[in-house]
Amino acid sequence: MLLEPFKQPQKETGFAFAPSNIALCKYWGKRDQELNLPINSSLSISLGHLGTQTRTSQSDEDIIFLNKKRIDKDNPFAIQLVQYLDLFRPTAKFCFKIETFNNFPTAAGLASSASGFAALVKALDDFFGWACDNKTLSILARLGSGSASRSIYKGFVIWNRGEKENGLDSFAERLSVTWPELRIAVITLSSKTKPVSSREGMKKTIETSILYKSWPEKAALDINRLKKAIQNKNFSSLGQTAESNALAMHATMIDTNPPIFYWLPETISTFHTIWELRRQGFAFYFTIDAGPNVKVIFQENDQNRLLTEFPKAEIIKPFD
Ligand code: PMV
Repeated sequence: MLLEPFKQPQKETGFAFAPSNIALCKYWGKRDQELNLPINSSLSISLGHLGTQTRTSQSDEDIIFLNKKRIDKDNPFAIQLVQYLDLFRPTAKFCFKIETFNNFPTAAGLASSASGFAALVKALDDFFGWACDNKTLSILARLGSGSASRSIYKGFVIWNRGEKENGLDSFAERLSVTWPELRIAVITLSSKTKPVSSREGMKKTIETSILYKSWPEKAALDINRLKKAIQNKNFSSLGQTAESNALAMHATMIDTNPPIFYWLPETISTFHTIWELRRQGFAFYFTIDAGPNVKVIFQENDQNRLLTEFPKAEIIKPFD
């Protein structure tokens, strides 16, 4: 059983790290809002040492520290976290102190919920001594945030959507391939909070976008292409598929009523720069999540060219 009666903590504190991740085939749309069950399978790459470190301990009241600052009870992040912790209290009165620290620049436009919930569930596992396997950790992390199911692992990760209503077959798994030359550059164009959350955005897209009807088919095609590209180390196929998948996800957002438009003028001009560099023969491809910041996928040998064009880019080595 997944949520066995929880024993009391086996340690004073639990501690864990989980990497952030970027999807090459995106998760967009839930078939179950409560359990975060996706409509489509997704495939991501974890971001090496960039992610979240979390410490858990017992306390007289729920206390949450984010990046060393105590956050208010009515902060949306605190509300979400406290609700999630309700799943794990051994008794109704049991309270937690959670100290969570993102080691990537907060302004870098990387999602913190994926690594945040994955690190939290791993820290709870350490604290209570559950000794869960990765599949169970992935399911538990998914209940906090869908993309967190993928942040349990390093490297390339597939989250299979599953079929069951209870979600017990909806978890992520690691692909065994490594690709040490692969790089991701994060181009931060704005660090403002996004106007529409992923949860709200997905819901509105499903409700109103006609284009969304073709999204599950597109995602299934792209997952297969990506699996092959990873297996054969075919970089142009990997990049093209990831870029096309991100644009298709945004097409469904734009088709939503009212439109969900995350891009800034700078986002679009970054796309053009990347396409121009491709015309010049450089293998740069982009992907973009529910926000304005662009992530460039490239290989080690093109790093100097990338930095000439985008001197402020944050370079990530996923397989370091
Ligand atoms: O896990 P959530 O609820 O933050 O949703 C993530 C949605 C995207 O970042 C746009 C896509 C993805 O697969 O990570």
